Amino acid sequence: MLSNEVSEILNKQTAVEADASHAYLALASWCEERNLPGIAEYFYAAAEDERAHFLEMVKYINAHQAPAVIQAVSHPRSSFVNLLEVFQYVWDLEHNNTLNINNVADVCLKNKDFATYKFMEAFVMEQQNAEKSVEDLIHMIKTLGHDERSLYYINKNFQKLVAKAAAGGEAN
Ligand SMILES: [Fe+2]
Repeated sequence: MLSNEVSEILNKQTAVEADASHAYLALASWCEERNLPGIAEYFYAAAEDERAHFLEMVKYINAHQAPAVIQAVSHPRSSFVNLLEVFQYVWDLEHNNTLNINNVADVCLKNKDFATYKFMEAFVMEQQNAEKSVEDLIHMIKTLGHDERSLYYINKNFQKLVAKAAAGGEAN
């Protein structure tokens, strides 16, 4: 059974994951509208990943007799000047999620809930990878630029990235 403090913070984290999933869907729409289907696929996959995290946490909470409380999702941001701004927003989103995940892990340790801490370990490591991969993408976008021709190549690169992730793991 989870302590009140652990179940409360983990419940809050389920909402963060659900919000992240919605945020990525809004970004997929932004890309679809601008004829960038490769980048849209990357965001659809990221939305699925966040939804999977949400479900995993909900099931974990319910499996340990602390009912998961399903909350309303926040209205996602959908207005951006360009693709660089989109990915800078993605970095903020992931970094904010890292801080939240680390906080959950911290509360687990303070409550001597080593089992839930162990459950959180995969999320901690995944956040580190997510931030690194977004940093690499920002570097690519800054290097290639934003003109029509660059966006064409960037979109192609994302198509390859999504295919690679589908073959071996998560896109984000
Ligand atoms: Fe997540």
